[in-house]
Amino acid sequence: MGKLTAPAIRARKVRDGADPLVMVTAYDAPGARVASQAGADLILVGDSVAMVVLGYDDTLQVTVGDMAHHTAAVARARPAAHIVADLPWMSYHVSAEETVQNAAMLVRAGAQSVKLEGGRKRLPMIERICDAEIPVMGHIGLTPQSVHAMGGFKVQGRQAEAARRLVQAAKSLAHAGCYSLVLEGVPVQVAEMVTDAVDIPTIGIGAGPHCDGQVLVFHDLLGLETRLVPKFVRRYADLDTLATDALRRFASDVRSGAFPSSQESYHLSEAELAALGIPEF
Ligand code: KIV
Repeated sequence: MGKLTAPAIRARKVRDGADPLVMVTAYDAPGARVASQAGADLILVGDSVAMVVLGYDDTLQVTVGDMAHHTAAVARARPAAHIVADLPWMSYHVSAEETVQNAAMLVRAGAQSVKLEGGRKRLPMIERICDAEIPVMGHIGLTPQSVHAMGGFKVQGRQAEAARRLVQAAKSLAHAGCYSLVLEGVPVQVAEMVTDAVDIPTIGIGAGPHCDGQVLVFHDLLGLETRLVPKFVRRYADLDTLATDALRRFASDVRSGAFPSSQESYHLSEAELAALGIPEF
C-alpha cells in the first residue's frame, strides 16, 4: 500500500465509515522504521523531540534547523507512513515569507506536510503555507508551545465559553485549508463537539475516544520517557527497564571477561599466523 497523501487523510472521517487514523511520533531512522513496520498511518516528527530526546523541560528550545535534521533522519528510513513535521516555536510567528521558507525547509528535508499550533491567530500563516502547496495540519487545545501563556501544561476548554471557542477555532482552521487537526488535552465532550463540527479528521492526544484518530509520543508509549507520564498515556512496553537490564548484562560480561567471545572476534588465517611466526592457539 502506498503512503497516505494529505488529501487521502483529509477524507478519513470515522463518521463516514473510515478507520481511525494512527499517528506516532518519531525523530530518527530506527524510530521511523519501527513506526512503519507497525503500520502507523502517519509519523509526526514532533517538536516533543526537545523533551523526550534532547532532555529539555519544554518544546521551545528547538529550531527549524533542528526539526529539519530530525525530519531528514526519519525520511531516510523511507517509512510507508505519511511524514508530518512540526514547525517549531517562532518559525511561523514573524512573517509570512519566513513561515513559508521554514515550511519549505521541512518539506525539502522529507516531510509531506507540516503542523503548527494555535487557533484563529494562525489563519493568515496557514493560508500562506497552503498557497505554497504545502499541506498543513492544525493543533489546538493544549498547545505546548504556549506553555508560558497558558501558565503550564493544562487541560484546555474546561469552561463552556472556552469549549465554544475551540469549536470555532477548529472550523476556522478547516476553512483556512488545514487537512487535519490535532486536538490535545481537552475534555472528551469537547473533542466530540469539535470532531462533529468539522469535515477534516481530528487526531486526539489526551482528548478521549471520539476523535478520528489518535497520536502518542514514541518514548511515552514505549516506556522510554520516565520523568513524567501524563494520564492519557498508555504504555505498551517498558523499554527503559529492558534497555537498562541489557546494558547491565553487557557491563557485567565486560567486567568478567565473558565479552567478547572468540566467535565475536576476528582472527588471522593460519597462513598469516605462520608468516608472522605466531604459533596457532
Ligand atoms: O510534538 C509532538 O509530539 C506533538 C504531539 C503531542 C501531538 O505535537
